[in-house]
Amino acid sequence: MASLFDNTDGGAEPPLSVSTAMKGGHFVTGATGFVGSSVVLELVRRTDDPIVCLVRSTGDDAAADGRLRMALKRAALACDAPELVSQVEERCSAVEGDLLAPRCGVDLRALPSLGMVWHCGASLRYEDEHKDAIWSTNVDGTANVLSLAQSARQLPFRYVSTAFVAGDRTGHIEEAAAPSDVRLNNWYERSKLAAERLVATSTLPDWRIVRPTIVIGHSRTKSTTSSSGLYGFVRGFRRFNSRVAQQLGDFLRHRPMRFFADPDCPINMIPVDAVARGLVTIGLAGDCGPRYYHLANVDPPRLGESLDMLCQELDLASPTYVSTDSAFTTIDRELDAELRFYRSYLSNAKQFDAAAAMAVVGKADLSWALNPDELRAYVRAYLATLDGRPQQPDQVVRTR
Ligand SMILES: NC(=O)c1ccc[n+]([C@@H]2O[C@H](COP(=O)([O-])OP(=O)(O)OC[C@H]3O[C@@H](n4cnc5c(N)ncnc54)[C@H](OP(=O)(O)O)[C@@H]3O)[C@@H](O)[C@H]2O)c1
Repeated sequence: MASLFDNTDGGAEPPLSVSTAMKGGHFVTGATGFVGSSVVLELVRRTDDPIVCLVRSTGDDAAADGRLRMALKRAALACDAPELVSQVEERCSAVEGDLLAPRCGVDLRALPSLGMVWHCGASLRYEDEHKDAIWSTNVDGTANVLSLAQSARQLPFRYVSTAFVAGDRTGHIEEAAAPSDVRLNNWYERSKLAAERLVATSTLPDWRIVRPTIVIGHSRTKSTTSSSGLYGFVRGFRRFNSRVAQQLGDFLRHRPMRFFADPDCPINMIPVDAVARGLVTIGLAGDCGPRYYHLANVDPPRLGESLDMLCQELDLASPTYVSTDSAFTTIDRELDAELRFYRSYLSNAKQFDAAAAMAVVGKADLSWALNPDELRAYVRAYLATLDGRPQQPDQVVRTR
């Protein structure tokens, strides 16, 4: 069966056939989120199994179920696949629970027999002021999902991490456990690495860790439900510009902003449908050897060209790049403070090895030529959503 999110135009290699060894349903965390909802839709399309999703609720199971259905419907429409909605109704159900509760507060006896756990849930609040919430959700939460998987006959476990557990390393980043002395940039990265280590040292016999880079919208529709990563940066940049415009009018149309960044730094982004396809293919593949996989773009754009495009979209002068803040004006300093979280991602050039992932997933889903015009379509779709004018799939520029 072809993938829902088929990436056929670029000479895609078909993914390896999935394992038939797994028996039972799928247990998914984070299914109301950006990545998790796409993973559920991919499981709906690629398997015939029931899918049970852990969902927080303010009330009862019915409220959790309603939230899940709404999130999955939104995700199906965002990827222009309305035909999936009826399958979601039939095959997906919510179980109320919380990552923060022991075994997520789930009574396994009340669920259909499970065959695999997909842990996509996490806190992406990023800023260090939320460090306690980040840690408890991402580390304690992962421990709770692991203990659930262990108590359910040691279920196979698929953990969605991030390629940025590489911290401040530069150059070639291998698909392997991070070195013990890696220096991490923030509490989000620390929590994701601590969670990886819990998975890798658990008693579970079958675990895989899949690390996407920066996840962007759907490759065809460009639509996104995310406000993290690229989108958090765009939102912060635009918010800053609006503040300046209120006081100084169109000053920033003529005066280039200074960025503490390396214009040649690759910015590794990958569409959400490629992540969902890759994760499900890796997760369901028979014994494929490696435990760590990068879902990374082997052809990432450079920061300079991408930021130039973003400045055009925001009607700003092209930026200049600096390696010290000695020439910063007050405005530069304020912008730097607004986007401080992203600073480590705008330098420290990394090349993510993706050989293990490519051997399972094929090349097409790891090769996205995000030239400025291609990336512009993603940015425009997001800005339209921010402005409350969501684009219908057929209004969005299809560039692939
Ligand atoms: N987005 C990216 O660019 C990116 C890049 C690399 C890796 N990742 C990884 O991909 C995974 C998913 O990220 P995302 O972008 O999809 O994030 P997201 O849209 O913010 O979704 C997070 C999901 O986790 C759930 N969740 C959070 N706290 C919970 C709790 N205490 N109990 C139960 N569920 C909880 C949320 O449920 P609610 O709806 O109840 O809030 C939501 O479903 C994460 O592991 C992240 O580290 C993301």
